[in-house]
Amino acid sequence: MVGTVWPPPKVSKRADRARLTRVAPATVAYRCPTGAVGQRPALALPVPRGGPPARPRPLGAPLDGIAPKVTANYSESVSASVTARAPGKVNIQLSVGAVRDDGFHPLASVFHAVAMHEEVTVAAGPAGSGIVIDGVSGLQADEVPRDSGNLVWRAAERLAAELDRPAPDVRVSIAKGVPVAGGMAGGSADCAAALVALNDLWGAPLDRDDLARVALDLGSDVPFSLLGGTALGLGRGELLSPLMVRGSFHWVFATATRGLSTPAVYGTFDRLVEGRIVPEPQPDEAVIAALIAGDPRALGHALHNDLQEPALTLRPTLRDVLEAGLAAGALGAIVSGSGPTVAFLVADPPGAARVHSAAAGLEQVRAVFSTTGAAPGARVVGRTA
Ligand code: C5P
Repeated sequence: MVGTVWPPPKVSKRADRARLTRVAPATVAYRCPTGAVGQRPALALPVPRGGPPARPRPLGAPLDGIAPKVTANYSESVSASVTARAPGKVNIQLSVGAVRDDGFHPLASVFHAVAMHEEVTVAAGPAGSGIVIDGVSGLQADEVPRDSGNLVWRAAERLAAELDRPAPDVRVSIAKGVPVAGGMAGGSADCAAALVALNDLWGAPLDRDDLARVALDLGSDVPFSLLGGTALGLGRGELLSPLMVRGSFHWVFATATRGLSTPAVYGTFDRLVEGRIVPEPQPDEAVIAALIAGDPRALGHALHNDLQEPALTLRPTLRDVLEAGLAAGALGAIVSGSGPTVAFLVADPPGAARVHSAAAGLEQVRAVFSTTGAAPGARVVGRTA
């Protein structure tokens, strides 16, 4: 069983604020001599010199050099606008258990952030203007809701409530690089980037642990969008343990002409397993060993997604996309999360180019992207004074 519970349990706002002056807990992130970066992995795997960490490290440690600790204070920011960036993801492993009483499914998921990003810029709006999503650009921008259906909107409301601030007056713009409804957590990336940007705009009152707790209220994948890198996720996917990964991996993503609804894919999973005993999802040691070894061939064999069959049931033409990439030399092919985006693991950039052109020729494919993982989690990338 994995020890990390991240984000930490909810405590009262008063207690939260008292904690703002506390000393940050001992970090357990380390860099091992092979170049792999991470924490003690979840399974029976090599332990770093000096022994296992004293306490699982929540978000905020300089893991992968990507998640700077936010200094807690209550001074209002002087920035006129803040831009934050968050990555899309693929689930290298997605094992799903039987639906829980709360309607969610228990998962054993290996999340892997990739270098396709959402960028969210926030700025204070005129008093009484409320939340205004006034600019959406980039990938499938016309499919993004501009109202309270957008997770960015809910992030602004939720963060303001958390901080006992009045209803926020903010202008938000979004530059999209992750497909909409594609199984790559594009909406969650927007949400995570909005939380980080607004927290910064409002003087950084919350540290990364507090943001992670708020994030889970907004969606199961949002805590990972904050964290980034590669991580094992248990529970609904929110109990995150960063994993050691050697080097980086090359990916090709083929997006579909139409999205798939995540609840519909989980619902199809429920129908497909009806009457069967569904085992409790477990982390896959082969996946974790391949990540540690930085071995794309082994990882290609180990890719596994329990939502793939439900996604193929709803969208049978995805099967041809998977097969086309494998025929073009992909080391592994998998539906990304709840789909319909298909992810191909490839050995190197030439391998990516071959798979890219094979997928691009298919009628059911909307666009193809070659990229790498792992990528950093949500972070501020720009401020204007
Ligand atoms: O948490 P989020 O709002 O992103 O989840 C969207 C939907 O996906 C949920 O309402 C639920 O139907 C399904 N889901 C699930 N089990 C999970 C995560 C999501 O059933 N672990």
